[in-house]
Amino acid sequence: MKILVTGGLGFIGSHTVVELQNKGFEVVVIDNLSNADESVLNGIESITGKKPLFENIDLREKAAVQDFFKRHNDVSGVIHFAASKAVGESVENPLLYYENNLETLVYILQQLAEKIEASFIFSSSCTVYGQATAMPITENAPIQPAMSPYGNTKQIGEEIIKDAAKVSGIKSVLLRYFNPVGAHESAAIGELPIGVPQNLVPFITQTAAGLRKELSVFGSDYPTPDGTCIRDYIHVVDLAKAHVIALQRLLNNKNLEKVETFNLGTGTGSSVLEVINAFEKVSGKKLPYKIVDRREGDVIEAYADTKKANEVLGWKAQLSLENAIDSAWKWEKKIRAIEN
Ligand code: UD1
Repeated sequence: MKILVTGGLGFIGSHTVVELQNKGFEVVVIDNLSNADESVLNGIESITGKKPLFENIDLREKAAVQDFFKRHNDVSGVIHFAASKAVGESVENPLLYYENNLETLVYILQQLAEKIEASFIFSSSCTVYGQATAMPITENAPIQPAMSPYGNTKQIGEEIIKDAAKVSGIKSVLLRYFNPVGAHESAAIGELPIGVPQNLVPFITQTAAGLRKELSVFGSDYPTPDGTCIRDYIHVVDLAKAHVIALQRLLNNKNLEKVETFNLGTGTGSSVLEVINAFEKVSGKKLPYKIVDRREGDVIEAYADTKKANEVLGWKAQLSLENAIDSAWKWEKKIRAIEN
């Protein structure tokens, strides 16, 4: 079966392509290389023994999207990762985010709506919950007004899919990720942030690799046990596997509703200081850091209630925070050619 993975050379996309190929799916990747490198194809090949088909297409070009689906009319399912994801950038350039994240979504859904049946997996985010009032966060927690244009594109994206599914053969699973971290255990693929990383784990590994002087911990006066923010860090390989399970669920018509939503997290919250400790433990290195002011827009805590994903989707995170940090560090060392 042929599966289209948009953004398939990005961080979560590339790990998902590996898991799809491991399960025998034929994969065609669309990526415009705006935040990914073509060499990721070699990494995927070194793990799976196979290079996926690759087309460098900008999904904002409607004619190119139409042409792609004409040439690949045997695509059975789509996993849609292609999107911009930097919160700060989205505040500075909101229209770019609406164009990149929503126009492209509409063009793909238009093609799928022409089919009798189509399976569509969407990358959503726990950001849709804002600061939830109850922990852990269930899928029924209220959606809060988005704190950034990026967050808004995820909320609107979910709505667009629900409306399209009502009037077409599109079936969809919306996956709300908590904090994806880590890399493939082979260190053949991993996260490749452009410029200064905004996210915690790549900042930590780059600091330990000597690219950054020290980590700034954003706030230590939060109402949490050690004063730093709490997040649910999920290993990217666990996350990738969830996409394959969700896709198989749709392809086998096992879905209970036209559009289903699942949280993808471990169910355990970790503070920033706990993540630093985990890094120091697995790497044996001391991490230079200082406490600074809070970062605007950060929620105090967010971790998933994983009951629905565990029981309905039949997926459970297998890997620990230590596993994730260890793999992220192995990857960083490999790309920086650090011996030990
Ligand atoms: C962020 C986005 C989220 C998005 C996700 C995508 C915000 C407010 N949220 O999640 O919407 O879906 O990225 O990857 O930007 N931290 C530090 N120092 C750093 C970096 C981070 O202390 O240099 C702290 C943050 O304050 C936070 C935790 O580490 O408490 C995790 O931060 P990060 O990795 O940026 O993820 P989120 O902010 O949770």
